[in-house]
Amino acid sequence: MNILVLGDVVGEIGCEFLRKKLPALKKLKGIDFCIANGENSSTGNGITPYSADYLFSSGVDFITTGNHVFRRKEVFELLDESEFIIRPMNFHPSCPGVGYRIVDLGFNSIGILNLSGAMYLDKCACPFETADKAIEEMKKQTDIILVDFHAEATSEKKALGFYLDGRVSALFGTHTHVQTSDATILKGGTGYITDLGMCGVIDSVLGVDKKIVIDKFRFGMPVRFDGATGDCMLNGCIFTIDEKSGRCTSAEAIDLR
Ligand SMILES: [Fe+2]
Ligand SMILES: [Fe+2]
Repeated sequence: MNILVLGDVVGEIGCEFLRKKLPALKKLKGIDFCIANGENSSTGNGITPYSADYLFSSGVDFITTGNHVFRRKEVFELLDESEFIIRPMNFHPSCPGVGYRIVDLGFNSIGILNLSGAMYLDKCACPFETADKAIEEMKKQTDIILVDFHAEATSEKKALGFYLDGRVSALFGTHTHVQTSDATILKGGTGYITDLGMCGVIDSVLGVDKKIVIDKFRFGMPVRFDGATGDCMLNGCIFTIDEKSGRCTSAEAIDLR
């Protein structure tokens, strides 16, 4: 089974590029299931029912999120009700939404778990302990488990990858919007990449107009983050999973321009 996972889709321009490129990519690579991180899919950041719908109707099957998920109130109801969107499980239990879902594909089931890093991000429960608990519950229903670890520190992502090696099918990092060149299969059979990168404007800082970000770093004054314009890229990874064992047999990074 081929699972395509896509890094943070940024803004309208990122969504449009994804819509343009995804159908052919799915066909070319024989993709069975596509997961995208949608936390920045709405114009002005966050995710809305509109941007989620746009991703779904473009060929995305499932949406994960991260630290920007609660930016737009209008998405709260969708987070509670949709079986195809999750937010980090280690956020406070009183927050809208859930941290994992099991999707029934008819011939098989697949579990998707979202976690937030505890380093350099807003306060959350320990991702390691939360993962232990979640995986124990999920294993009762499926052996195919994918983890989106939305985290800043590469070290935290590598550590969780090794910690979960052999217990999940694949773990991929998101949040930095910069793709790492370390797509691999860990010794225990878990597919891994430290960060998927971004679906958005190439010539930008995290999808934001580069001049604005330069000024922000130079002068430290509050600025309005306007989305960049220009050519886009679609960053992600394809994990091939053996359906019987749940093990990863191939991990291929994708950088489509
Ligand atoms: Fe992001
Ligand atoms: Fe993020």
